[in-house]
Amino acid sequence: MTAQKNMEDIVSVAKRRGFIYPGSDVYGGLSGTWDYGPLGVALKRNIMQLWWAMFVDERDDMFGVDAAILMNQKVWQASGHVDTFVDPLVEDLETKQRFRADHLLKDAGFEVDGLSLEQLTALIRDNNVKSPAGNTLSEVRTFNMMFTTTVGPVANDAAISYLRPETAQGIFTNYKNVVDTFYPDLPFGLAQQGKAFRNEISPRDFIFRSREFEQMEIEYFVDPAKWEGSFEHWRQQVWKWTRALGLSDDTVHELEVPEEDRAHYSKRTIDFEYDFPIGREELLGLAYRTDFDLGNIQRVSGKNMEYTVKGTNEKFVPHVIEPSFGVERALMAVLTAAYTEDEVNGEKRIVMKFPEHLAPVKFAVSPLVRNKPELVAKAREVYDLLKKKYGAVMWDDNGNIGKRYRRQDEIGTPHCVVVDFDTLETDGLVSVRDRDTTEQRRVKPEEL
Ligand code: GLY
Repeated sequence: MTAQKNMEDIVSVAKRRGFIYPGSDVYGGLSGTWDYGPLGVALKRNIMQLWWAMFVDERDDMFGVDAAILMNQKVWQASGHVDTFVDPLVEDLETKQRFRADHLLKDAGFEVDGLSLEQLTALIRDNNVKSPAGNTLSEVRTFNMMFTTTVGPVANDAAISYLRPETAQGIFTNYKNVVDTFYPDLPFGLAQQGKAFRNEISPRDFIFRSREFEQMEIEYFVDPAKWEGSFEHWRQQVWKWTRALGLSDDTVHELEVPEEDRAHYSKRTIDFEYDFPIGREELLGLAYRTDFDLGNIQRVSGKNMEYTVKGTNEKFVPHVIEPSFGVERALMAVLTAAYTEDEVNGEKRIVMKFPEHLAPVKFAVSPLVRNKPELVAKAREVYDLLKKKYGAVMWDDNGNIGKRYRRQDEIGTPHCVVVDFDTLETDGLVSVRDRDTTEQRRVKPEEL
């Protein structure tokens, strides 16, 4: 269903209506970065708040953390990111432009999953695969995706740090702190939302693959003997999440990731894929990270990461189930699911059918005409009432009423409230138009 939707149409509405703009646009842009406008930030926050409500506030076994983005370099050495967080890079020998070898080969129709660097190089050589400019390509080598920086005034090796490529490590490094201060029963989880950075060789597909993005991650600590039950629990929770985003089940697909394609820390991964307009691609991941991370922290820091089961002498390093959600991918899926073209009174309209709880604007309020002060005053009264109640309310008195409806449809406002002459002269009721059905009914303003 979503495959028929066109990425350009969605990107165009997103830019035209103030959801998402290219980063640093005024200076010619910065590849792989995006800025959020007033509606984009509202939609993004609604998604993030929904996630926090579902997975932290509404549960007894979850705790929130918010760790620093800059961390001690040992974090990334111990986690394996310094050595293995790499993508296959290939270079156009003429232009020196660089590409992701697997993407280039996939686009040329080759199957590349699980291939080594040597196999990718051989595939390019044996099939005479050229760069997009038609030039010969180099051998394939690895490229580490972490952004490196230095902390403090002396730029030596000891000062090296990285912009975190995942929020997860900020959770693992706080596991011991939370156990010591809260001593929760197992299983329990820590949740974090925040920025992550990856120096993608070729960012592409709108916000799907960008260099700076936002993650929502959970590390769920379990008794190693019971990991399978928790994995299944989170698998069901993920489905609850995709439904809460308004994604229909037939557009979301589980992919059991084979061993050769799993991240270095995972013993089992299910990718949840979504039918984006760019194809079926990863929306989020569910991984069994074992004791890989806590074990590494224990080994490198020398600090004990064992959990003592309450009332016993039983001790072990907990294992971890990690549901990892990308905010931008959720947002792109929500935009895709919402984007609808239909016809109203013989005219084509674009309508973003966001679930009401995610819509950036819940109500638009207008006077039928803007040159009647008494209508405007009454409409302002209704606006103030709704604004106090819902916050996300927009005043809109530009153009004729039909144009206002079209504008609000394009940003997905579920209800348009109009104050007209009947409101003043007869019943005090206002008209409320439903975004999806375009039907109107009359209600008391206090009942909205
Ligand atoms: N923490 C998993 C990921 O960033 O992909």
